[in-house]
Amino acid sequence: MAHKVTYIPGDGIGPEVVEAAREVIDATGVKIEWERADAGAEVEVRTGSNLPDATIEQIARSGVALKGPTATAVGRGSRSANVGLRKALDLYANLRPVKSIPGIKSRYENVDLVVVRENTEGLYSGLEHIVVPGVVEAIKIVTERASTRIARFAFEYARRHKRKKVTVVHKANIMKLSDGLFLESARNVARNYSDIEFEDVIVDALCTKLVLDPSQFDVLLLENLYGDIISDLCAGLVGGLGVVGGANIGDTAAVFEAVHGTAPDIAGKGVANPTAVLLSAEMMLLHLGEHEAAARLRGAIEKVLGEGKVRTRDLGGTATLREYVDALKAALA
Ligand code: NAI
Repeated sequence: MAHKVTYIPGDGIGPEVVEAAREVIDATGVKIEWERADAGAEVEVRTGSNLPDATIEQIARSGVALKGPTATAVGRGSRSANVGLRKALDLYANLRPVKSIPGIKSRYENVDLVVVRENTEGLYSGLEHIVVPGVVEAIKIVTERASTRIARFAFEYARRHKRKKVTVVHKANIMKLSDGLFLESARNVARNYSDIEFEDVIVDALCTKLVLDPSQFDVLLLENLYGDIISDLCAGLVGGLGVVGGANIGDTAAVFEAVHGTAPDIAGKGVANPTAVLLSAEMMLLHLGEHEAAARLRGAIEKVLGEGKVRTRDLGGTATLREYVDALKAALA
């Protein structure tokens, strides 16, 4: 039976890379019935909303979406469609596997770790206000419920994917109550997973350790702000945002999307790199239980990039998006 998957083209290079990704995913042989939904700046111009109710309802129905990047204005305008989606569907876990790809130049060759980020609270709760002119207060929310839920997610993920260790990241030496609660919740959950090693590390020390020797980490568990920053640092360990996938996952729905933006400078030119969307699609296939198709997709990406003959410009090559997609499809054939 075909899986029903919602796809959201998004803005900028979104439509090009999502279309390319659908073509390559279909070439793995997996049966997917694609249903389109819209989000982002383009649909906002047409309908007045960057996240129409129909889009949320459709993802809630299908349970799985592949999303292109959507544009958000800085410091003004509507709330980002991504934040809206996370809230509407309670996508509380942000997941980013970070794995070296043969042939992609980076400082390390064998990075293989997973960043699990709490997606719903912390300093990203959107609670900011002007106390008096010149003084702004931002409120960091930490609840035992959300901290426990994300810790469980990290341990369950570790167990399912045969990972050995979960490292919880915090600054509880300074933020004793807020980060203290996040740490304590993780410790409580860890007691139920004696098969998985558990440790904690202070976020600044983590940065040093990560850049010196990323192989000492396996699954990293972080609250929202640290998770946002550290997940980009980790992407840098394997070659940048163009070569990692990501997902926002809840109990009833999951949205898979590349972590890069809409790349307005190259949109519509046919030179964008769909690798990040494809790596998100690999995660999506695993989520759907399509392990063989996921492995074939990863294999094709590693083969083409490893050979180094067909690469898009951002990876130092000259290939167009079309040429890269054709090379991936040939590798899958
Ligand atoms: P960006 O990631 O769009 O672009 C940064 C640089 O990376 C640009 O030079 C761009 O050409 C290049 N780049 C990004 N993705 C690429 C790809 N797949 N292939 C080749 N080159 C690629 O970041 P920027 O400029 O900060 O953001 C632009 C817009 O994207 C903003 O409106 C922002 O809000 C939005 N954005 C959306 C995200 C999402 O929907 N998940 C995530 C990040 C940004």
